[in-house]
Amino acid sequence: MKLAVGCDHGGYALKQEVLAHLSERGLEWDDFGTYSTAACDYPLIAAEVARAVVQGKYPRGILICGTGLGMSIAANKVPGIRAAVCQDGYTARMSREHNDANILCLGGRVLGGGLAREILDAWLAAEFAGGRHQRRLDQVAGLEVG
Ligand code: RB5
Repeated sequence: MKLAVGCDHGGYALKQEVLAHLSERGLEWDDFGTYSTAACDYPLIAAEVARAVVQGKYPRGILICGTGLGMSIAANKVPGIRAAVCQDGYTARMSREHNDANILCLGGRVLGGGLAREILDAWLAAEFAGGRHQRRLDQVAGLEVG
């Protein structure tokens, strides 16, 4: 699985740890920036990663800002994106099993590297459970069109 990964300045340091962890696990990734701790605008990065995911270029993406919140709010504006902010492994697993989250959002100013890796591993390992959850996601998708 090749992942699309992006961050803003608030997520830059954690992104470096996330990318290293993905590589250690033998997973491929493309880095959509930002590439330094210089201040930038998270919606622009969120849009690039989110569009690449809905266009099918990547099965899933990871977005990191200071809290994960701005990235998730922005990414969820793109139809077809289900971006989930996760701060623990259980939520990360559930975001896949029940919500089929296709973007994981992390907070670089919230999480330490160890916890972030645990969240990431839980999110990568879990699969969508389908069934009644698909019906609910169909209802969520219906909200995108008004
Ligand atoms: C940047 O200061 C910060 O607002 C951003 O990284 C993010 O936390 C927004 O939700």
